[in-house]
Amino acid sequence: MTNCNDTPAARRPPSNSRQRPGASGEDETSSELVATVRNTLIEHPAFALGISAIRRCHRMGRFGLEEPGCLLIMGVSGSGKSTLRKEYARHHSRRETDEATVIPVLHLELPAQPTIKNVAERILLALGDPLFARGSAEAMTARIVTLFRNCRVELVILDEFQHFIDHSREKVETKVADWLKHLINATRVPFVLMGLHRCQRILQSNEQLRRRFSRQITLEPFGVADRKARRIFDGLLRSIWGCLPVKCSPELSNGGDNVERIHFATYGLIGYVMTLVAASVEIVLEDGRPAIDRDVLAKAFSQSIWPEGRGCLNPFHPGFTNRPLTNSGEPFFGYKT
Ligand SMILES: Nc1ncnc2c1ncn2[C@@H]1O[C@H](COP(=O)(O)OP(=O)(O)OP(=O)(O)O)[C@@H](O)[C@H]1O
Ligand SMILES: [Mg+2]
Repeated sequence: MTNCNDTPAARRPPSNSRQRPGASGEDETSSELVATVRNTLIEHPAFALGISAIRRCHRMGRFGLEEPGCLLIMGVSGSGKSTLRKEYARHHSRRETDEATVIPVLHLELPAQPTIKNVAERILLALGDPLFARGSAEAMTARIVTLFRNCRVELVILDEFQHFIDHSREKVETKVADWLKHLINATRVPFVLMGLHRCQRILQSNEQLRRRFSRQITLEPFGVADRKARRIFDGLLRSIWGCLPVKCSPELSNGGDNVERIHFATYGLIGYVMTLVAASVEIVLEDGRPAIDRDVLAKAFSQSIWPEGRGCLNPFHPGFTNRPLTNSGEPFFGYKT
C-alpha cells in the first residue's frame, strides 16, 4: 500500500459533532472529554489514501462518462471504512437551491438482507423521495435515475456491501448485482462500494460488475513488522498522545516496547486504538490518576476491548507472550485476511 503521508494529523471534532448526554458537573465534563476523544479524526496514511481514491473517482464522475470508473474499498471491521464514507460526504454535503436539493455525494448503508426493492427504497429515501416505498422495482429504478439527474448526484457510496454475500440467496445476489450494473450504466454516476474482504466474492462471480470495479483498495491495519511500518504506527500514537485532554506518561513515547504492546492490543486497527485511548482517558479522569501509563492501558484493554484479557493474556502485563490475539475466543479471531 502506498502511504500518502507518514505523519498522521489529528483533528478535533467540529463544534456540531455528536456529544454524549452527560449527567452533571464533573461527570458531565469527564464524559464530554471522553466524547471529544472518540470524535477526534486522525488523518492517518490509509485514511488519506482512501480519501484520495474516492476523490479521483468523484472527479471523473463529473464528466458523465458512459462507463464511469467505480471503486471498491475493503477492510476488516474497525479499519475505518464508514468513517471514511461519512467524512468524505461531510465535505460534499447536500444543499438547497431555488430549483432543487443538490446531493453531490449520496451515501448509505445497504440493508441487512438486500433485495432490488429494499436497496432501491433505501436509495430513494436518501434522495428524499417522500414515496420511497411506492411502486414496482422498475418504477423505483426509473425514479432513481430521474432523481439522480435532478439532484445532480455525482458519486454514490454504498457501505456494508458484504450484506450481499451474507444474507442473500445466490439467485437474489446475482439479480441485485445485475441491477446495480444497470443502475451504474443508466445514471452514469460512479459508485464506491465498501465492505469486508468477502464482498470481493460478488465481483468474482459477476464479470461485468468486476470490470467496472477494477479499482480496489484495502484499508490495511497498521503494522509493526518492519522499521518503516513501525515508524508510521509510532507516529500515529504520538499524534494521539499529543492531542489528549489528559497527560501521558513519558514511558509511552520514549522507545521501549509499548508500540508493539499497543499493536497486540489493537491489531493495529484505528477503531481499537481509539477505543483503547478513550477508555484510558476515562480511567485517568475517573480514578484521578496523574497520567496514562502502562497500568492504565492494561485496565483500559480489559475494560473496553477484551474482558478476559487479564494477567498473561493482557498485552500490557509483563508476562504477556508476544503473539497476536487471533485464536478462537480472542478479540481478533478471524481478522487475518
Ligand atoms: N480516521 C479515524 N480517526 C479517528 N477515529 C477513527 C478513524 N477511523 C475510524 N475511527 C473510529 O473507529 C471506529 C470504527 O470505525 P468505522 O466504523 O469507520 O470502521 P468500519 O471499517 O466501518 O467497521 P465495520 O466494518 O465494523 O463497519 C469508530 O468509532 C470511529 O470513530
Ligand atoms: Mg462500517
